[in-house]
Amino acid sequence: MVCAGMEEQFTREDALRREGYRHACHIMLYGDSSAKLFGKIPIKHIVLMQMRFDGLLGFPGGLVNPSKETLEAGLSRELHEEVGVAVPVGVDNHVSSCLSPSCPQLITHFYIKKMTEAELREIERAAVAAATDHGLEVLGMVRVPLYFLKNGGGLPYFLSHSFISNSRAQLLSALQRCRLLSQGELEKAVRQAEQMRR
Ligand code: GTP
Ligand code: MN
Ligand code: MN
Ligand code: MN
Ligand code: MN
Ligand code: MN
Repeated sequence: MVCAGMEEQFTREDALRREGYRHACHIMLYGDSSAKLFGKIPIKHIVLMQMRFDGLLGFPGGLVNPSKETLEAGLSRELHEEVGVAVPVGVDNHVSSCLSPSCPQLITHFYIKKMTEAELREIERAAVAAATDHGLEVLGMVRVPLYFLKNGGGLPYFLSHSFISNSRAQLLSALQRCRLLSQGELEKAVRQAEQMRR
């Protein structure tokens, strides 16, 4: 249920062997935090997404041409453009490759990288101060609220926004994979978000 929209999966190697497809790589940069909202609600983790030029939420990253660069080098290049830091990415950060539900000839590769709170704060600063795409293709980095407030505040409201391609499913599966939330919490957030969208 949580992974709806990510059914057609390949391995990284399989995806690269397919002919006639374009490739896009995006990444979830995240880490632990001891900060507390209003001095009392632990935010627990920092998870970065971005507001895109088209008004949709998505992860940093972009189109990569595997005949010119590796998927990971291309992703690192996109990170330099979009967040102002060429965060190193390796094959070990790869988690999934699947057909884009919104764009038929596109394979979307997804990566996850854990960083320290200080590194994530530096990325947030660089995204404004150094990224060439800031204010153009990227309107701003946003943190994903992982907590629950009254009346759907927090994660349920965040999930009720509109997301590019299958990035919402990528977020949910990454939160599950990295155990940033329990299965029960994820299901609750999805259920509450669903009610808001009506
Ligand atoms: P240009 O520099 O303008 O070419 O954009 P880009 O290279 O940064 O490409 P973009 O990040 O828009 O990604 C290319 C395509 O991948 C988009 O048109 C979407 O279909 C898809 N896409 C964008 N963001 C995400 C994401 O977070 N997850 C997934 N699965 N797909 C995405
Ligand atoms: Mn205040
Ligand atoms: Mn880009
Ligand atoms: Mn992009
Ligand atoms: Mn690009
Ligand atoms: Mn660009």
